[in-house]
Amino acid sequence: MSDGRKPYIAGNWKMNLDRSKALDLIKTIKGRLGDGNDREVAVFAPSVYLADVSAVAQGSPLGVGAQNMYYEPGGAFTGELCGTMLREVGADRVLVGHSERRHVFGEPDEWMSRKIRAALRDSLLPVLCVGERLEERKGNKTDRVLKKQLESALIDLQADEVRRLTIAYEPVWAIGTGEVATPDQAAAAHAFIRKWIAQKLGAESGEAIRILYGGSVSPDNVKALMALDDVDGVLVGGASLKPDLFLPIIEYDS
Ligand code: PGA
Repeated sequence: MSDGRKPYIAGNWKMNLDRSKALDLIKTIKGRLGDGNDREVAVFAPSVYLADVSAVAQGSPLGVGAQNMYYEPGGAFTGELCGTMLREVGADRVLVGHSERRHVFGEPDEWMSRKIRAALRDSLLPVLCVGERLEERKGNKTDRVLKKQLESALIDLQADEVRRLTIAYEPVWAIGTGEVATPDQAAAAHAFIRKWIAQKLGAESGEAIRILYGGSVSPDNVKALMALDDVDGVLVGGASLKPDLFLPIIEYDS
């Protein structure tokens, strides 16, 4: 964590919680949040709950985001949602390229740059997720995979747009498995991503961009992760569903 970058703690609820549990959870988080000056906190809720969740979050510094969007501005795309729809129900940010979108639903790398463009056009703050699979890590291909994912997603990005972008490094083998990346593994991947951004989009962008770690984050490992120079926040799946796990993560002591 560097002094210049505000810690960003985000929960990704995925396809979990019913409406009343989602509302209880957001109320609890809101009740415990400070003024938001020292850390940014957000939840990525199922789209059907966004209106209700954002209504509760209103008036607090809590961010509310969608877990996915399509890149077209509207039209015959059954089952999809565009950025303006998500904004209308209170989302201010969106995940792009989460590993479950890439690997369970087969979204191709080429979509990610279009989604980032669409998110920026529709005034949503994108969080681009990148990360390697186990066989890629075992085959020493982590850097190659990250480079390919970054290159294809950020191909059109201008340096002045980078300040609205966040990156989440989420090794696929660490998601939902209880197996968190070691500090060395996380440090190396985050440093690689920051260097790539600095080279392609300028030193200032490299210094400013926040890079979150995701994959089995828990109250037990958040402090060690956040102590790493290039880790600016965490994207939390399973542990974001329970206040007794998510609140200590939000309130980790730096
Ligand atoms: P996890 O999920 O914390 O349950 O591993 C992280 C994510 O998929 O964003």
